[in-house]
Amino acid sequence: MSTSDNPLFKSENINEDELKRALNCSKLPCHIAIIMDGNGRWAVNKNMPRAEGHRAGVESLRKVVELCVELKINILTVYAFSTENWKRPQEEINILMKLLVEYLYSEINNLHKNGVRVSTIGNTWVLPQSAQEALKMAMTKTCNNNGLTLNLALNYGGRMELVDGIKDIAREVFEGKLSPEDIDENTVSGHLYTGDYPDPDLLIRPSGDFRVSNFLLWQLAYTEFWLTTIMWPDFDRHTFLYALIDFQNRKRRFGGLEHS
Ligand code: IPE
Ligand code: IPE
Ligand code: MG
Repeated sequence: MSTSDNPLFKSENINEDELKRALNCSKLPCHIAIIMDGNGRWAVNKNMPRAEGHRAGVESLRKVVELCVELKINILTVYAFSTENWKRPQEEINILMKLLVEYLYSEINNLHKNGVRVSTIGNTWVLPQSAQEALKMAMTKTCNNNGLTLNLALNYGGRMELVDGIKDIAREVFEGKLSPEDIDENTVSGHLYTGDYPDPDLLIRPSGDFRVSNFLLWQLAYTEFWLTTIMWPDFDRHTFLYALIDFQNRKRRFGGLEHS
């Protein structure tokens, strides 16, 4: 379902308190994944350089993290840079990395104060040195926090993750630590970057592109998708609350039958 199908979304005057009242706090998703897409188009539509879209996108991330903390969401995984994003012009890649570093240093005290634990998925060791240092700083400072886990997908690709996981499993078999007969779904899940995180309950993709773009290919097996044409820089607290309300109205069957 997209936002336009939601009757709540059509009532423009609805305020945040009303939305929060419509939310069932005992039925919130444990793990939310977001493909933060549409920054470039948002900027181009406003005759601005793409970089301005990325800058505005950081503000959306700030707001969404804040709301996740308020609602006591366990895990937020955000797609910030894919293994395919290296195909972009070097100048744009540099801006994205610079914004990541700025975000981490400017937000770290706030994140820490709010009990957020910063983590990553993806091959971060090939990121520029400054990004690696900022990530190390943020992860070290927040490693003992037990509030929201803010999981940044950086140089992340779902296929690369599966390849890496398969290599690890093959190595363990080769070394005699694992028997092929004992490989099951839990073995595969446990060898992914997401390790023991539960699969996402809800995937949000703004921007009007209705695809997964190599994000969490294994983990999305039974995730609820919430797609919207809103661009990520315009994604605000209201939009997020609508997505959560829609999620709560879904009937998740996991291949079985609906429980009465
Ligand atoms: C998402 O916005 C940010 C990254 C992919 C890093 P885009 O830059 O993809 O924005 P669009 O899709 O071109 O509008
Ligand atoms: C997905 O967006 C990656 C991130 C948001 C980081 P893209 O803009 O890279 O995806 P495609 O190319 O439209 O599929
Ligand atoms: Mg895009």
